[in-house]
Amino acid sequence: MSRNLSALSGRKGLEDNLFEQLGKASEPSGAPDPEALRQLAEVFLMGPANLYGAASFYDLTRQENRGKEIHICNGAACLVSGTQIPLRKELEDVFRPDKIGELACLGRCHENGAFLYRNRTFSGLPAGAAKRVLQEDFSDPGGHFAIGHYGSPLLTAPALRLSDYREMLDGMFRRPPEEILREIQQSGLRGRGGAGFPLGIKLEACRKVPGTHKFIVCNADEGDPGSYSDRYLLEQRPLAVLMGMLIAGYAAGAETGVIYLRAEYPEAAGILGDAMNAIADAGLSGNNLLGSGFAYRFKLIRGQGAYVCGEETALLASIEGQRPEVRVRPPFPVESGLFGFPTLVSNVETLANLPFIQHHGDAAFAKIGTAKSSGTKLLSISSWFNRPGVYEVPMGTPLRVVTEDLAGGYRTPVKALHVGGPLGGIVPMHKVADLRCDFESFAENGFLFGHASIVAIPESLPMIEYLEHLLAFAAHESCGKCFPCRIGTVRGKELVQKAQTEGCPIDPILFADLLDTLEKGSLCALGGGIPLPVRNLLTYFGEELRPYFS
Ligand SMILES: Cc1cc2nc3c(=O)[nH]c(=O)nc-3n(C[C@H](O)[C@H](O)[C@H](O)COP(=O)(O)O)c2cc1C
Ligand code: SF4
Repeated sequence: MSRNLSALSGRKGLEDNLFEQLGKASEPSGAPDPEALRQLAEVFLMGPANLYGAASFYDLTRQENRGKEIHICNGAACLVSGTQIPLRKELEDVFRPDKIGELACLGRCHENGAFLYRNRTFSGLPAGAAKRVLQEDFSDPGGHFAIGHYGSPLLTAPALRLSDYREMLDGMFRRPPEEILREIQQSGLRGRGGAGFPLGIKLEACRKVPGTHKFIVCNADEGDPGSYSDRYLLEQRPLAVLMGMLIAGYAAGAETGVIYLRAEYPEAAGILGDAMNAIADAGLSGNNLLGSGFAYRFKLIRGQGAYVCGEETALLASIEGQRPEVRVRPPFPVESGLFGFPTLVSNVETLANLPFIQHHGDAAFAKIGTAKSSGTKLLSISSWFNRPGVYEVPMGTPLRVVTEDLAGGYRTPVKALHVGGPLGGIVPMHKVADLRCDFESFAENGFLFGHASIVAIPESLPMIEYLEHLLAFAAHESCGKCFPCRIGTVRGKELVQKAQTEGCPIDPILFADLLDTLEKGSLCALGGGIPLPVRNLLTYFGEELRPYFS
């Protein structure tokens, strides 16, 4: 990420935002015309190549995808459900095959058969219904899932009203920001985006760094196929997310909250827009909030389809309209983030916890869960379970409580659970009983809790296909910044493909070397993380995979 380009993009900032302009220029046909890029380059004082580099990155703005009329989901949960091949056939009766694009993931992992058409998401439709939708019969776009909890709910509890938040903020503004910050630290809240880093440490760092502007960026790019718990919060608890951003802003001394929302969640964009308007109408955004002297503004930025934009530095480059490549750290975003200003990037669920802490106090939060992982966690449960949905449990809850008691077990024989997204571990069924829903338990057992999505892999799905899917996903989504990932994920995919189609067995020493290089040499957790599920497959499904190795 170039600092000069950050500064040039920052001249116009968020109001006349380069990335939004790129999106607008792509809307008519799916990719911006060279003339539109040239004009934008002139306005933003950049070279056309910089803008071409950015536009050619995203699924929804690159030339190869120009003219796509409908996008079907190719994420892991849709793959294992087996719904997408018949869906594609059905759609091909109506669309030319080259008009059908692919995206991962549409966040309909609970019922699959997902596709995006005219900015609306559809899923779980009975056979033949997709055609009806295309004839504008939009009566039921699907999207239904169970919501449940074990213990006292915190995030899935009945939603607070704006008047409740007004009262809460009124109380908060009477206390100094340092006290609010200390309370968040004492709550022990750790990031829910995957890495589990303590929020209080990041907030304090952001507060301490001098800066004329500071940003809170809500990472609503929920890209892990299999995850849709952030989508639940964005669509059904938007005020909790937005008010969480405001509380974080007060604690860190930041006056702008940017929510970066993935393109694949069009419904959430409308809901968040309405919520932001309602907040403004209630006088809870703008200058001098409730007479406190504190100012806070919200801005919604919509992504354009790129998994790696969930990585915080790629996300910031994306907002700036740069090619969203991962940046070397340090400096960390809290020191030099959006447009070079101190920036806190936090996950949707992390921020949505702040109103509870503000309302009930740090001790109430800290007493839920375990000593090291406090609070609750939402789990996204995919469609091979009897009751797919979003379930909230206290950290430390046995995994079986979720899979058996809440989600009701499986509709088909299942051989493994893929937990924590594409970079998460693959848990064979005999290990499920050993695991508890927290960061430590998964790490100690050689897996990853991550953002806590659970995709059940049915016995009928050959693991070699799943292995190919994982490597193909990583190769497609690699930002290309570092060689181990840019080249290694493609080579890995090719090895697995050739083993299936050309009878060319994989050399296990070469493959182990490739995984080692990816793990040790990659700049971020995409290339560095993909070896985990691959190694889990080799360890637990070695017998099944043996015919493909020499
Ligand atoms: C490839 C990749 C994708 C990521 N995707 C997301 C995402 O979709 N949502 C998210 O909150 N964090 C994602 N992260 C983690 C972010 O970089 C960052 O750690 C997180 O937003 C911090 O928020 P938290 O501390 O609240 O977890 C991703 C990381 C990587 C390496
Ligand atoms: S590991 Fe992959 S995604 Fe991450 S910086 Fe390197 S090339 Fe980019």
